[in-house]
Amino acid sequence: MLSHQASDPKRKSLHGHWSSRMAFILAVTGSAVGLGNIWKFPYIAGQNGGGAFVLVYLICVVVIGMPVMMSEILIGRRGRRNPVATMALLGQEEGGSTRWRWVGGMGVVAGILILSYYSVIAGWTLAYVVKSATGVFAGASAAAVSEQFNGFTGDWRLVALCHTLFMSLSVFVVARGVERGLEQAVRFMVPALLILMLVLLGYSINSGYFDEGVAFMFTPDFDRLTWGSVLAALGQAFFTLSIGMGAIMAYGAYLPEETSITGASAAVVTADTSIAILAGLAIFPLVFANDLNPADGPGLVFDTLPLAFGQMAGGTFFSTIFFILLSFAAWTSAIGLMEPAVAWIVERFNKTRAQATIATGFLIWFVGMGSVLSFNVLSDVRFLAGTIFDNVDYLTSNIMLPLGGLLIVIFAGWVMCRNSTADELHGSGGLFKTWRILARFVAPIGILIVLINAVR
Ligand code: TRP
Repeated sequence: MLSHQASDPKRKSLHGHWSSRMAFILAVTGSAVGLGNIWKFPYIAGQNGGGAFVLVYLICVVVIGMPVMMSEILIGRRGRRNPVATMALLGQEEGGSTRWRWVGGMGVVAGILILSYYSVIAGWTLAYVVKSATGVFAGASAAAVSEQFNGFTGDWRLVALCHTLFMSLSVFVVARGVERGLEQAVRFMVPALLILMLVLLGYSINSGYFDEGVAFMFTPDFDRLTWGSVLAALGQAFFTLSIGMGAIMAYGAYLPEETSITGASAAVVTADTSIAILAGLAIFPLVFANDLNPADGPGLVFDTLPLAFGQMAGGTFFSTIFFILLSFAAWTSAIGLMEPAVAWIVERFNKTRAQATIATGFLIWFVGMGSVLSFNVLSDVRFLAGTIFDNVDYLTSNIMLPLGGLLIVIFAGWVMCRNSTADELHGSGGLFKTWRILARFVAPIGILIVLINAVR
């Protein structure tokens, strides 16, 4: 095996290194915690019937998400380049084929597609900061809150404006390479978000419908579980952990040699999963207390949380802070979604970071207009999975990310030398053996079974 070329510890990333283990954990947590936890998890769980979906999601996070995340980081650190170049280089060194670069290539495309609609929803969040601050929700009824949502998303110009604003913010940060500043924001954002979720949880507990909410989330009704919802749970696990598209690989490329990949992954997975579960626990009781439909779709959070804030003492304040924090969470995820594309363009075409980011940002903005219009002008244009937005979401979360993850664990578990991976994971003890079994057998077989059954 050629692996010993790869173990050259002197290999350096072109983009510098994280200043500390903490900086890396903050960056990965910042990318993981986002709209996926607070906006997407509750509505996907609602659409897929709750309990059984949540259980499958949690299993996917542990037995598939965790090994995929570790594989991505270790591949990234070993290659120390953008995901395309890293996969080409390690593919050559470890498996004799540069064709593995297509895994990186698919990740670049997935990042662009995900951010195209992610930015639209982040734009809604920005608009809700303003709505909250101006007291629109104070004392509002469920009908009034949902009217706000429909009125807003129905106005494509307003939605396009917010999408444009959010993309500009993301491009600004990535172009100037000042992500580090935003990572520092994660230090207070994640704890603050946790605290606000607890405030909401307190409100939910007192709503009188807490038991219904908990039962909905945690009583598995396997009769309602289809292969389609199992795939949705798998896709959500990938989406929320930011894995399967090379973003974490790109971040791993800047990771110092001595940092424990297992420890960092466990920290991120724990933080991310807790926030999603808390969001569900805050939202579902409100759904039932207000006679709303848990299968309502992408508007669920925007229809429930403002309602709760509107009835709380100090609600205008809390609501404003909440949507500001959520916008920040989306912002730190957006920069991660752009990273594979930007790093690739910089290295491959010798462009400056600013040029690469502006070009990528413009493309994403343009593609995103399809999702802007999915909620108004083009809401009747439906094919395959639904609207344009539904299709981009389905294609990325349910197909591209699981497929990317499958190839990544196969690469780390089967193509890479045992020594190379043991080297990156610091040892060959029980933890390493567990990772290897998950990465070689459990994760790939699990992903394949779900994909095959759901798609055929
Ligand atoms: N994990 C993010 C969220 O839950 C979304 C996301 C998916 C992401 N893939 C990513 C973020 C890659 C950064 C990088 O909101």
